[in-house]
Amino acid sequence: MASYSIKLYEILILALITCTKAKLGEFKETSMTIYFQDQFGGPNATVAQILPEYIGGHLSFKKFGAIFCTDDLVTEGFDVSSAQVARAQGMYLTSALDGSNTHVLVSIVFNNGEYKGSTLEIQGASAQFERVREVAVVGGTGKFRFARGYLTFETIHINVEANLAVIQCNITVLHY
Ligand SMILES: *[C@@H]1O[C@H](CO)[C@@H](O)[C@H](O)[C@H]1NC(C)=O
Ligand SMILES: *[C@@H]1O[C@H](CO)[C@@H](O)[C@H](O)[C@H]1NC(C)=O
Repeated sequence: MASYSIKLYEILILALITCTKAKLGEFKETSMTIYFQDQFGGPNATVAQILPEYIGGHLSFKKFGAIFCTDDLVTEGFDVSSAQVARAQGMYLTSALDGSNTHVLVSIVFNNGEYKGSTLEIQGASAQFERVREVAVVGGTGKFRFARGYLTFETIHINVEANLAVIQCNITVLHY
């Protein structure tokens, strides 16, 4: 009798696990390295300062309260002419009084390749003058539904004449 009820219990647990699995499946981990081509000036700039006004004609990343909107080209490789994978669209706000942190609210909108039509949502504080900045990935859509994880930003190249910074972005996310 005792062993019968234990078996029944086990079957129930198994059924429960199977049901949950059938609904959501298992988390997959995806990692990738992509490159933000950040055009910070010139006629085709992909970053603009909203407030306060430009100071001396330069973007004032250090100024507390400075808000920027961005629509950077995101490429598969370091080279600006390598295959496009996404646009990085959103905003960031200098959120530390001393200017050291910026608050990032950016969507990676995949528009080409394997993840076309999906998005990843980046949100969090970024120590903007550190060599490597780690920021949370808090969600996603399409192939990245229920995504969570983190990414690193590293500015690996700056061309002042071309107003171009290339930011290497390594992403690790769990998603269904
Ligand atoms: C800006 O974009 C236009 C249109 O795509 C292009 O013809 C022009 O060469 C670009 N200018 C610079 C400085 O990149
Ligand atoms: C990002 O990934 C690249 C390529 O795998 C690697 O060379 C680089 O060190 C990584 N950067 C960080 C900050 O982990």
